[in-house]
Amino acid sequence: MARIFISCEIFPEEVKRLERAGHSVEMHPAGVIAKEELLEKVRDADVLICPLSTRVERAVFDAAPELKVVANLGVGVDNIDLEEANARGILVLNTPGVLTETVADLAFALMFAVARRVVELDKRLRAEGFPGWTFIPSYLGRDVWGATLGIVGLGRIGAAVARRAKCFSMEVLYHSRTRKPELEAELGCRYVPLEDLLRESDFVVLCVPLTPDTRHLIGQRELSLMKHTAYLVNISRGPVVEEEALVKALKEGKLAGAALDVFEREPEVHPGLLELNNAVLTPHIGSATVDTRRRMAQMAVDGVLAALKGQRPENIVNPAVWPGRL
Ligand code: NAP
Ligand code: GLV
Repeated sequence: MARIFISCEIFPEEVKRLERAGHSVEMHPAGVIAKEELLEKVRDADVLICPLSTRVERAVFDAAPELKVVANLGVGVDNIDLEEANARGILVLNTPGVLTETVADLAFALMFAVARRVVELDKRLRAEGFPGWTFIPSYLGRDVWGATLGIVGLGRIGAAVARRAKCFSMEVLYHSRTRKPELEAELGCRYVPLEDLLRESDFVVLCVPLTPDTRHLIGQRELSLMKHTAYLVNISRGPVVEEEALVKALKEGKLAGAALDVFEREPEVHPGLLELNNAVLTPHIGSATVDTRRRMAQMAVDGVLAALKGQRPENIVNPAVWPGRL
C-alpha cells in the first residue's frame, strides 16, 4: 500500500480508483497549496500527484524521504526540479497528448478574441450600450482568415494549431528546434529562422516548453521585429516572453495586441497588462475543459497505478530513472 498525496482537487472517481487499488490518499481541497503545507503533507508520501502550480523543488524532495513518483497534471514540467528528481531516482510522469487539441482550440480562441476585439467590445457594450450598426472605426479588428501565422515550437500543440490554420486558409510559417519535413509535407507549413517568422507573421503563437533556451525567447529586440499590425499569442509558459518589454511594445503601438494564457510570474499578472484594451488575458486555462481535465487526471492515475505495480508507465519524463526507487 502506498501513501499518495494530491496537492490539488481532482475528479473524485480518480481518487476512488487509487483507493480501490489499496492505496491511502489525501487530497488538498480547492485552491493552490501553500509551500509550508506542501512540505508538511509530503513527509510520509510515496507519491505526489500535483498541478503545475505546485513547485517541486529541492526542499520538497528533502521533506519527502519516501517519495518515489511525482505525477504532474500537465505536459510542461518546468515546475519540477528534474535534476534533483533524477539524482534521487524519483520517477516523474506528465500528461502529454491528451490536452493537445484543447490547447490548440484556445490558441484560436485567443487569436479571434484579440484580433476581433471580442473582450474589449463586450465590455464596451455592457458599459455604453449598443449604438446600432454603423461605421465605428474603433470597432474594427483584423482578419484571422487568410493571415500569416507563425508558430514557434512545432510539437504536438504547435502542429494541432497548424492543422486548424489550414481550415482558415492561413499561410503557416514555423520555427522549431528541429525541422519537421513530414509536417511540412502534410500541412504545407514553411520552416523559417525565428527573425523571419517574427517579421513576416500577422499572428505569432508560442508553443515551446519553458527551458533555459526558451526563457525570454521573445524580448524587446524580437518584439521590435514584429509588424505593428501583428498579434502575439502565448499559450506556452509566461517566462518565454519578457513581460515588461511586451507591455512597453503594446503601449507604444509597436504591435497591435497580445493574448496571453500564461504569465511571467504566475499567479501575478503584470499590472501594465491589466490596463491595456489590446491585451486579452486568461488564467492559464489551455487544458481547462471537463473532458480534457478528466483525461489528464486519468492519465496521471493510470501512470501512478502502473508504476506502483512495477509496470513501466507510458508517460515517463525521466525514463533513465526507471524503475528508480519502486
Ligand atoms: P512538445 O510536443 O514537446 O512540443 C514542443 C516543441 O517545442 C517541440 O517541437 C520542440 O522541438 C520545440 N522546442 C523546444 N525548445 C525549443 C527552442 N529552444 N526553440 C524552438 N523550438 C523549441 O510539447 P507540447 O505538448 O506541444 O507542449 C508544449 C508546451 O505547451 C508545454 O511544454 C507547456 O509549457 C505548454 N502548455 C501550455 C498549456 C496551457 O494551459 N497554456 C497547456 C499545455 C501545454 P523538438 O521537436 O526538437 O523537441
Ligand atoms: C499546462 O500548462 C500544461 O503544461 O499541461
